[in-house]
Amino acid sequence: MTDHDYKELPIGVFDSGVGGLTVLKAIREALPQENLIYLGDTARLPYGTKSPASIVRYAVQATKKLQDQGIKLLVIACNTASAVALDVLRDQMHPVPVLGVVEPGATAAVNARPGGSHLVLATEATVGLGAYRKAIERLDPEAKVREQACELLVSLAEEGWTNGSIADAIVRRYLAEAVDSEFTVDSIILGCTHFPLLRDTISCIAGEGVDVVDSAITTAAVVEKLLASAGHLRSSDEAATLRLLATDGATRFARVGGQFLGNSLQTSDIQLVDL
Ligand code: DGL
Repeated sequence: MTDHDYKELPIGVFDSGVGGLTVLKAIREALPQENLIYLGDTARLPYGTKSPASIVRYAVQATKKLQDQGIKLLVIACNTASAVALDVLRDQMHPVPVLGVVEPGATAAVNARPGGSHLVLATEATVGLGAYRKAIERLDPEAKVREQACELLVSLAEEGWTNGSIADAIVRRYLAEAVDSEFTVDSIILGCTHFPLLRDTISCIAGEGVDVVDSAITTAAVVEKLLASAGHLRSSDEAATLRLLATDGATRFARVGGQFLGNSLQTSDIQLVDL
C-alpha cells in the first residue's frame, strides 16, 4: 500500500452502543480531514454488567470487524472495553496502534485538579477492575479516588432521557451513595462514554466548584499526536467520510446517535452488520 493510500484509511472507533459517538465527535472536531468508521455493538449493549470474559470476546469480535475494513488506528471509545480488553486488542491489532479512553480520562482529571479528590462514575465492570483508581494513582499519588457504578445512566443516555425529573432523581441517588462528609468532591469523572450526555444534569446536581471531566477531548488530542508522530495524518482536500455501523436497531441508533453527534441522522445512514 502506498503512503497516500495508508493515510486515506479511516480511524476506527468502537463502543458497545452510541456513547462512543461523544469521542468520535471530539476526534472529528480536532481532525476534520480524517476518514472515520464507527461501530456500535448495540445488539449486545450493555457491556458494563457482563463478565470480563464476555466483554473480551465481544470486544475482540467488534475489533475484527473494523480490522477487516482496514483502519490505521483503533480507538476503543468504551471505558468498559478499555478497562477489560486493551492489552488483548493491542495484540490483535499489532502493528496498528490501539488507544483506550481510561488513561486520557484520568489525565484530564489529574490535570484539572492535581492532588484532588475525584469521583469516578462508570459501569460496574470498570469500577470492578478499579481501572480509573489505578490510572489516577499512577499519574498523581496524592490524589484521592472514589468510584461509583451507575448502570442506570447508560439506559438513560440510550433512551435520550438526559434531563428532567427522572434523570435528576437517578443522578441525585448515585451521588448520595458515593459522597459522604469524609470525601469532598473536586472533580467528577465521566468514566463511561455514555455519560457526557448527562453532563448538564450531573453538573447541576454536583454544584458549583466541582469540575466535570470526560475523556473525549484528551483522547482526540492523543489521536492527533499519535498520527502526526507516525506521519499518518490525512492531507487530502477531498471531504472526509464517516461510516456508521451497528449490530442492531438502526432506527434507535439514528435517533439517539444524532443527539450524541450533534447532527441529525437517518436510519439509512446506519449500516447493520453481524460480528
Ligand atoms: N459506553 C460504555 C463505557 O464507556 C458503557 C456502556 C455499556 O455498559 O455498554 O463504559
